[in-house]
Amino acid sequence: MSKSLVIKGGTIINRKSQEVADVKIENDSVVEVGKNLKGDTQLDASGCIVSSGFVDLHAHLREPGKEEAETIETGSRAGALGGYTALVVMPNTDPPQDSVAVIDFVREQGKRAGLVDVVPSGCITLGRQGESLAPMAELAHAGVTFFTDDGNGVQDAALMRRALEYARGLGVTLAQHCEVAELTKGAVMNECSCCTDLGLPGWPSIAEELMVFRDIELVRITGASMHFLHLSTKRSVELVRAAKRDGLPITAEVTPHHLSLTQELLASYNPVFKVNPPLRSIEDIQALKAGLLDGTIDAIATDHAPHPRRDKEMSLDLAPPGMLGLETALGVVLAEGACEIRDVVALMSWNPAKIARVDAEHGRDVVAGVNANLCVFDPQLTWSVDPERLASKSINTPYIGRTLRGRVRHTIFKGTPTVIDGQAQK
Ligand code: DOR
Repeated sequence: MSKSLVIKGGTIINRKSQEVADVKIENDSVVEVGKNLKGDTQLDASGCIVSSGFVDLHAHLREPGKEEAETIETGSRAGALGGYTALVVMPNTDPPQDSVAVIDFVREQGKRAGLVDVVPSGCITLGRQGESLAPMAELAHAGVTFFTDDGNGVQDAALMRRALEYARGLGVTLAQHCEVAELTKGAVMNECSCCTDLGLPGWPSIAEELMVFRDIELVRITGASMHFLHLSTKRSVELVRAAKRDGLPITAEVTPHHLSLTQELLASYNPVFKVNPPLRSIEDIQALKAGLLDGTIDAIATDHAPHPRRDKEMSLDLAPPGMLGLETALGVVLAEGACEIRDVVALMSWNPAKIARVDAEHGRDVVAGVNANLCVFDPQLTWSVDPERLASKSINTPYIGRTLRGRVRHTIFKGTPTVIDGQAQK
């Protein structure tokens, strides 16, 4: 007979209910939710929330090509510690994820690590060069449903239009990194009054907003579904809000860092704060938070972007953009207090599961019969990052020394605990 696991006494948050109960798991499924359940193993969840596992729409795991920064295994472990059971992984690997061979490799490495579902995204253009389309149909037949050139925006409007036409026929989603490259050459931080004082080249909001606008109009004429990655400005939120009001099939995400950190931090000249798109103003943060509350923004996604210490120790102009996110996302979001815990579960699990089309197995209500992909977290616990204890291979996080609120206690992936009491199990 198979062994059973019971999660005891947590508050289960489902779409239409919230109750204190035990969850019994056998093999890879939830078999019962109720009071006084017994099992071969028990995990305490008192004072904790029990929800479906988190789904990240935006993780850079760097394998193949930059294993010095992260591997699929270390990134998966960082994800499990952050409460994730599925990660959509970005295609700016080396080689890029523009062929079935690379997609298969990434999937296999994900299975081998066995800590989360690793869901490879495919490139929109060959080599992410923005010149010709990647073999989208072949990739779609190999099961890819999410396409992006993340790290680059697709600059050529005609190519993007064609990609959307193909995407519509194939029933897949395109995800855009919104950046008009001509406007951001050499940019290091947000274009604002302080960037002039600091003598740093600015990355203007309009470089993001022009592409958001262009792509909304391309969606209007093609009818394809489109996801906007890491939106960072007030006007972008307004554009998406209006597009949704028009009924267009558009979704959008924000990152924990764009909700919590402002452009003024660049006055330290510390490359840990260099990210693409850049940290913006407090008014932008307020608009992003308002977008979370009224449903304009569908998901919180990490843009987990590990970089080796050597690279992040270069000067601000040379250091690559990006910061870690998987292990701190929940703690940052709850510390910001931008929305209710139920909304956090929606933004980090239910909605992204749907956008990534993994909602048959992830982001389900915690009821008998579903796959046991679960997150158990203490929403009150305050903590701070210990760089020595990060599972990620890199340490480029700006949250060292800051107080975060809310910590993952247990993560269950396909019925097996990957994290117990904050400790990774393998
Ligand atoms: O900050 C970022 N880092 N933004 C991106 O779009 C790419 C990412 C990376 O790959 O490092």
